[in-house]
Amino acid sequence: MNNRSKSENFLTVAEIDIVRRSFLNLGDENARAGELFYQQLFEDNPELKRLFLSDISIQSEKLTNMLGMIVSQIHNMPELLPMLADLARRHLGYGVEAEHYRDVGDALIGTIRDVLGPKFRPEVEAAWTKAYEGIALTMIQCCYGRAGIEKYQMASSQN
Ligand code: HEM
Repeated sequence: MNNRSKSENFLTVAEIDIVRRSFLNLGDENARAGELFYQQLFEDNPELKRLFLSDISIQSEKLTNMLGMIVSQIHNMPELLPMLADLARRHLGYGVEAEHYRDVGDALIGTIRDVLGPKFRPEVEAAWTKAYEGIALTMIQCCYGRAGIEKYQMASSQN
């Protein structure tokens, strides 16, 4: 049995393991990571600030909790899919567009790079990039369909 057939996921078992371990490595740095993430997101995309109405430290905690939940269920697509679909539908209501998922992905990977430092090895970057891509494409497909996927793919990555 190969890794993919065992997980039936967009990630192999080895990649899931890397994502989980590096998320645990963020550990006590979670709060700092959340703040760095929004700092980086707004520095690179000041136009996105207007979408965020709540206190950013509370929002940051919600984001890291949700990421923890996603990471814990990333092997379990039947559980994860409805969760991501609900999350994506709520994001429609926040005024989020398909191409914004690229900006958020860039800021997320950049933040993990900064916080992990030398532990951010190429295989860690590759696993996180693939994990985020799988999550983002699932959310985009759910709410914006094929046109949204194309917009996301055309949006250039700053990484
Ligand atoms: C993997 C992708 C993402 C995850 C895991 C995520 C997670 C979350 C969570 C947990 C919340 C709290 C409210 C809720 O649960 O509905 C939230 C709110 C929000 N997210 Fe996201 N998000 C993602 C992508 C994005 C993207 C691409 C944008 C675009 C800029 C975005 C903008 C927002 C906004 C504007 C809010 C509401 C903030 C407020 O109430 O002030 N998110 N997100």
